[in-house]
Amino acid sequence: MVAWTDFERVTIKDIFSKIDYEVVGPAAISRCLIVYPWTQRYFAGFGNLYNAAAITSNPKVAAHGKVVMQGLEKAVKNMDNIKATFTELSTLHSEKLQVDPDNFMLLGDCLAIVVASQLGEDFTPEVHAAFQKFLAVVVSSLRRQYY
Ligand code: HEM
Repeated sequence: MVAWTDFERVTIKDIFSKIDYEVVGPAAISRCLIVYPWTQRYFAGFGNLYNAAAITSNPKVAAHGKVVMQGLEKAVKNMDNIKATFTELSTLHSEKLQVDPDNFMLLGDCLAIVVASQLGEDFTPEVHAAFQKFLAVVVSSLRRQYY
């Protein structure tokens, strides 16, 4: 089990209460698809991902960004049990979607960049550290059903 300090708990909840999922989710997934283009291969059903403009204006990408944020919200609401909370999601990414788990932190890092740009000066190094720890637990939980 992960040990969270009071500061980390408050900070993670605070971040998720401040950000707009409809902005942050689409921006993070778009950035991931643009910066790490090999991640596009998993989204063949999303239509036009030809260049950055196509990706950022693709409604399926935007909708999926929001879905990812809703998935992360479950982790925020279950911070003491993220591994169990993500059992099914991990199995889905492993067995059905066959996503290379090395990609999880690439999306996580894109998310951190977008959150930083949204929070501005409030995204202090301490806040960043708490967010990065949260992402590390999410990623390790998503990797758990891989074998
Ligand atoms: C922070 C990491 C991630 C989280 C929290 C996350 C979360 C989710 C959620 C909640 C779903 C919907 C599951 C459902 O329909 O039951 C999903 C689907 C999916 N994820 Fe992830 N995901 C992450 C990373 C990734 C990465 C890095 C990739 C590929 C590079 C990926 C590829 C997919 C694909 C292809 C789908 C199905 C999309 C569709 O057809 O609608 N995910 N993910």
